Amino acid sequence: MIVYWNHSLKDHNTFSIDVRCTQFFVMDQLDDRHILQKEKIFASPHYILGGGSNVLFTKDFAGTIIHPAFKGIEVMEDSDQSRLIRVAAGEEWDDVINYCLRNRLYGLENLIGIPGCAGSAPVQNIGAYGVEAKDCIERVEGFLTDNMQPFTLSAEECCFGYRNSIFKKKLKGKCLITHVWFRLSKTEHYTLTYKALSDEMAQQNLSLETITQSILRIRNSKLPDIRKIGCAGSFFKNPVITEERFQKLQAQHPDLVSHPAPGKKVKLSAGQLIEKAGWKGKRTGDAGIYPLQALVLVNYGGASPEEIQHLYKQVYSDVRKMFNIRLTPEVNIL
Ligand code: EPU
Repeated sequence: MIVYWNHSLKDHNTFSIDVRCTQFFVMDQLDDRHILQKEKIFASPHYILGGGSNVLFTKDFAGTIIHPAFKGIEVMEDSDQSRLIRVAAGEEWDDVINYCLRNRLYGLENLIGIPGCAGSAPVQNIGAYGVEAKDCIERVEGFLTDNMQPFTLSAEECCFGYRNSIFKKKLKGKCLITHVWFRLSKTEHYTLTYKALSDEMAQQNLSLETITQSILRIRNSKLPDIRKIGCAGSFFKNPVITEERFQKLQAQHPDLVSHPAPGKKVKLSAGQLIEKAGWKGKRTGDAGIYPLQALVLVNYGGASPEEIQHLYKQVYSDVRKMFNIRLTPEVNIL
């Protein structure tokens, strides 16, 4: 366990917002939970922070930030068909992907390049290029923070949906995820439902190497490099509306991009709505909308939390005026 007082969070959020927390608690082993319990940390204001790639701090955090940093990838089952691995929450997401690549395990390769920690993956069911974490998650382990009771939830019990899970609903703020179990396939197969990816792959041999290189190329062509430009990936979720509302909207805006969503609904592209509302590439001070992908809000250097907040509220309001759609932030705003 390592504890820092009055600690800057600048290096712990990919927006690079320079706010402070009262106490920063690095859990470098699972047993540190006993110290957290003894110090009654969970009974006072606290926030569990993984890689900080999906959070916007709008002010100093008066409380304890708990950063699970314990690592490990254990093989729980291994057969000719699949391997079941138990990944500790503090593993870097890309280290999990690289483990899969080294061991020729299929299923998560389309999720290469997503910043963050393994423990965060089930929370919002991270997804990209036609794959979601839920496609390979078999169970999630953790403990409840009010009584320290351990739990194991099956994938079904996690109630995964688009950028959603039980950890964003019933268990929000009530648990700490310690391990995620993934079942990966040993049979070569790929998900090529995303058009830009299938177009690229049509030109070359399919392999884990070529598909991951292709995904990194597509990502880099649209998303900023978080080592250079502060951002938290997609700022808003893609809105899901009823078929009926979609038809009315489509009558006014025939070029709207749409995808079928569960429950006879329609998923729109928030990036397109923001672009149509005229925000793509706009910048006020150091806060801006990324010119290559309107769903990404960026901090070009010294943007204050107020500037970013002001910007996202303007975007929200203009999209609402133009399409009568209320965008929901995907990022946690604290
Ligand atoms: N589009 C625009 N203008 C824009 C951006 C997008 O018109 O500025 C249109 C595109 O032309 C396309 C559609 O919107 O037809 C969808 O865009 P894209 O394929 O770039 O994906 P997205 O819906 O914007 C989602 C995820 C990303 C993920 C990509 C690729 C959400 C909120 N975001 O973005 O996830 O990488 O798909 O699969 O679902 C993240 O969560 O941080 C993230 C980057």
